[in-house]
Amino acid sequence: MVKAYPEVSEEYKYAVDKAKKKLRGLIAEKNCAPIMVRLAWHAAGTFDVKTKSGGPFGTIRFSEELAHGANAGLQIAVNLLEPIKVQFPIISYADLYELAGVVAVEVTGGPEIPFHPGRQDKIDVPEEGRLPDATKGANHLRDVFGHMGLGDKEIVALSGAHTLGRCHKDRSGFEGAWTENPLQFDNSYFKELLSGEKEGLIQLPSDKALIEDPKFRPYVELYAQDEDAFFCDYADAHLQLSELGFAEA
Ligand code: HEM
Repeated sequence: MVKAYPEVSEEYKYAVDKAKKKLRGLIAEKNCAPIMVRLAWHAAGTFDVKTKSGGPFGTIRFSEELAHGANAGLQIAVNLLEPIKVQFPIISYADLYELAGVVAVEVTGGPEIPFHPGRQDKIDVPEEGRLPDATKGANHLRDVFGHMGLGDKEIVALSGAHTLGRCHKDRSGFEGAWTENPLQFDNSYFKELLSGEKEGLIQLPSDKALIEDPKFRPYVELYAQDEDAFFCDYADAHLQLSELGFAEA
């Protein structure tokens, strides 16, 4: 689908370029790429195709949305980005959060994801319960991602973002990283998934669903053996996620 992106001013484009550099610096200094990717995803993943509500429009900055159970810990990411917002007030929160996600993937060695500016900040906080529950399986994942308008390939490719970061007992109730090097974006999430549970690393029920489901599994196998295929599909799926409800023709 060809999207009709809004025109933004030269001043806006310039600010986005500068903010991108500041984000690279911030992420390198704080090692906060994982939580930036999680913020961008949770900001966008509330989109509902039917009602066109939710989505990457900055509402996750509000305490009401941050208080949703799935968002535990994301106040940290919102706070880390606030000084950049203050420096570049012209940039919407909506754009800033998605830009942070794209930059975080790039600087940890992942694929380059195109970024189109122009998301407007909204004020309507989506209802709680639109993000996936890690204790559930394949049907639940299809249901939740289906509401976003995303399918099997996107579910598996996007789950590969768990190559970064870890679970925190005081946030999600789970503890541990998925991979040996949680600050490096590569295809090791899929390799670990196929090699079975390992001391010190975690596999959530929702991760295991990807190898147990006959339609998900072929993607896991492909991405584990072909990192280029993973990067290509990941970049495509992340772009879609970051633009849910944005610039639709
Ligand atoms: C498929 C359904 C998914 C479930 C059930 C799920 C669940 C979780 C859980 C429970 C955590 C741990 C949070 C914590 O304790 O700090 C987490 C972390 C994370 N998730 Fe997911 N996730 C899913 C999909 C995704 C997607 C689509 C992305 C990005 C495209 C993503 C990116 C991340 C990242 C980067 C972290 C690490 C955060 C950190 O280290 O602070 N996840 N996820």
